[in-house]
Amino acid sequence: MNLRIFDSADDLIRAAARTVVQKIEAGACTIALSGGSTPKPMYELLGKAPIAEAPIVWIVVDERYVPIDDPQSNAGMIEQTLFANGMSPAHRFLRFKTELGDPAATARAFEDDWRALGIERLDVALLGVGDDGHTASLFPGTTALQVEDRIATEVWVEKLKMWRVTLTKPVIRDAALRIVLAAGEAKRPVLEQVRAGVEHPIAQVTRGVETWWMVDRAAAPPPVT
Ligand code: 6PG
Repeated sequence: MNLRIFDSADDLIRAAARTVVQKIEAGACTIALSGGSTPKPMYELLGKAPIAEAPIVWIVVDERYVPIDDPQSNAGMIEQTLFANGMSPAHRFLRFKTELGDPAATARAFEDDWRALGIERLDVALLGVGDDGHTASLFPGTTALQVEDRIATEVWVEKLKMWRVTLTKPVIRDAALRIVLAAGEAKRPVLEQVRAGVEHPIAQVTRGVETWWMVDRAAAPPPVT
């Protein structure tokens, strides 16, 4: 486990933002962004940072099936943070169009947009992890984990009683680099379980492929003795 431990969540976020900028400066141009609370301050930092005018496609990793103006919307959160000061005309934003009102149609439209943009693979996939081991909207025990032949899929998440749409496991695994951000002690048990070999969804998308785990001290698993 390529683990980078930071003294605080703030240090973690600053380091993660620097890493994304460095990857862009090195040529990364397809960057997938997870939702949730952990990456939000990083997107705020990136929204204030001078980012290369290179043609970047920012891609939402997954979406809660709500309107974009709903406080739960990942795309809405990204627009309010990363794009708070506007988006460069050289950049594109690929999101899940929940306004279609049909999760399966939204997943298909996403894939059409992905192909129309000529995306071959992700350069960077920024991932979070839930304390149940989910990542993106790949929740334990859901059908999404079995989808291998599509870019994106809809999935009913019983525990949340809601539809989600998400990038699929093969797409995340095919990215050149995965960066997992985890902060807070609630994430420590799942990180320990992943290191011990538990096949959580976050383990399934990172096992054996280049992954940087960027965590704060509270989330960091104890050193292996
Ligand atoms: C989402 C995310 C999800 C998130 C984890 C961790 O839509 O919620 O894509 O996979 O990364 O749930 O969320 P936190 O960062 O809020 O702990």
